[in-house]
Amino acid sequence: MSEMPRDIETAEMTETKISASKVQVYYGDTHAIKDVSVDIEARAVTAFIGPSGCGKSTFLRCLNRMNDTIDICRVEGDIKIDDEDIYDPKVDPVQLRAKVGMVFQKPNPFPKSIYDNVAYGPRIHGLTRKKSELDEVVASSLQKAGLWNEVKDRLDGPGTGLSGGQQQRLCIARAIAVSPEVILMDEPCSALDPIATAKVEELIDELRANFTIVIVTHSMQQAARVSQQTAFFHMGNLVEVGATQDIFTNPQDKRTQDYITGRFG
Ligand SMILES: Nc1ncnc2c1ncn2[C@@H]1O[C@H](COP(=O)(O)OP(=O)(O)O)[C@@H](O)[C@H]1O
Ligand SMILES: [Mg+2]
Repeated sequence: MSEMPRDIETAEMTETKISASKVQVYYGDTHAIKDVSVDIEARAVTAFIGPSGCGKSTFLRCLNRMNDTIDICRVEGDIKIDDEDIYDPKVDPVQLRAKVGMVFQKPNPFPKSIYDNVAYGPRIHGLTRKKSELDEVVASSLQKAGLWNEVKDRLDGPGTGLSGGQQQRLCIARAIAVSPEVILMDEPCSALDPIATAKVEELIDELRANFTIVIVTHSMQQAARVSQQTAFFHMGNLVEVGATQDIFTNPQDKRTQDYITGRFG
């Protein structure tokens, strides 16, 4: 590897997983996302930052067509994942959401056992043929989510009986269980205490070896800790996107600079 010319090495390291081009989102007459184009790197963490109401969640939801479920919401433009247009009529949004999983702000385990929470996706998508295979998927998903040791003796216990941080890792295990390629996280730590937050951040750092992760966060410290790429949104515009280190140390746009120095937000 070390003999490789440097530009080839770099080119190999950054592969685009999601490519959005000229995306517009409207809620009725509200123009919530304005002409946003961005490439999301594969097997890296991309953070969406910006003041409340700037469109972070709206844009995140475009990436697995969750906005389809909001009646007044209209999405225009192109979004490709591995060169497949995810808004093509032949794409099944349910299949898409297995490939592009989502974790929400408030941990939302189903009112089912820990086991059944994780087994849910593999069951509805028919991913396993027998109980032993399903057991395997449940165990490995909980391992990848860093929760296995804490729950292996209580798999039949309710998911809602776990602590907040454990519930969020359970939701991550549930997302992982269907072998997604992308995981979208909308402020996944904002309901968690600092210790649980640290655990989830550590987990995100491990997961990026195998998944493409997009995280919305209102915490710039968190964006700086967990992401390699950062996109700054302001009033529906994508103002600036680049390597996290560059965005935080050498922002190009005054709005980015004002935001990261705490002048508004
Ligand atoms: N379900 C919705 N219906 C109508 N307007 C919405 C809806 N969700 C978000 N919006 C509007 O879209 C804009 C962007 O919101 P949002 O994406 O939630 O911002 P952020 O996640 O950055 O706080 C805001 O003006 C918000 O009021
Ligand atoms: Mg939001």
